[in-house]
Amino acid sequence: MYNLLKGKKGIIFGALDENSIAWKTAERVHEEGGEFVLTNAPVALRMGQINALAEKTGSQVIPADATSLEDLENLVEKSMEILGGKIDFVLHSIGMSINVRKGNHYTSQNYDWTQKGTDISAMSFHKVMQTLYKKEAMNQWGSIVALTYMAAQRVFPDYNDMADNKAYLESIARSFGYFFGKEKTVRVNTISQSPTPTTAGSGVKGFDGFLAYADKMAPLGNASALDCANYTVAMFSDLTRMVTLQNLFHDGGFSNTGVSDDVMEAFVKGLE
Ligand code: NAI
Repeated sequence: MYNLLKGKKGIIFGALDENSIAWKTAERVHEEGGEFVLTNAPVALRMGQINALAEKTGSQVIPADATSLEDLENLVEKSMEILGGKIDFVLHSIGMSINVRKGNHYTSQNYDWTQKGTDISAMSFHKVMQTLYKKEAMNQWGSIVALTYMAAQRVFPDYNDMADNKAYLESIARSFGYFFGKEKTVRVNTISQSPTPTTAGSGVKGFDGFLAYADKMAPLGNASALDCANYTVAMFSDLTRMVTLQNLFHDGGFSNTGVSDDVMEAFVKGLE
């Protein structure tokens, strides 16, 4: 432990259960001395185990549907009250596609579901930032991070409409990050994480194969949820003050690997 976040206050979205990337992040932020409010959609609070995490990290939980501006306004105001001041870090760790969940193919979407998924997975990031921005809720040199996946840049057929949502999310990080940087000296980045066995991750069709393939392809193997939590801690810390508007690949080198010996070997074996 390095006390990297001592004295810093934040909001962490998306801890559903102990597999969630946000759950691991909350644990690591706590270990590094940061204080925070935990939040999730009301329905997720009923289903998940967030109270155990709150107890462990000495945090309060405020329900908020990230698509509701009213909920977000309440969340930001209450968080500042609870934490006794402005916010230094925010983690947006939210994603959901109803088309994926209901098994609709990318070429056969129900557009009401597409719209809902976009609202939850991407536009919610704009709503979170706009609420923080308008309420002057962020401290100077604060850091806002959202989690994304490489399907925003390259085709992964079963990632479905989440690929489009992630592309939109990453664009919002750049566009809003410009204004947050210029006007409030706050940085905004996305972390593009390896496939990770969580509730959201496992919803992707053929996830196990996907996970094993990425692991064999990446020179360092897949980054775990805990690795992602550590990277996010670094992004919240003062050690990364000049990093903003970036999509940061956190994937053991997968994104820059054309093919690996392991994958080629398995492929050739399959041909025999
Ligand atoms: P998770 O299922 O544990 O977390 C997703 C969270 O989104 C849940 O806590 C859920 O309650 C929350 N959520 C859904 N609808 C919401 C709403 N309307 N308002 C507020 N919260 C809502 O899964 P995971 O994997 O930890 O997901 C976190 C982020 O990481 C997501 O953005 C996901 O796309 C991203 N990611 C995940 C990868 C994976 O393979 N698991 C890979 C790369 C990125």
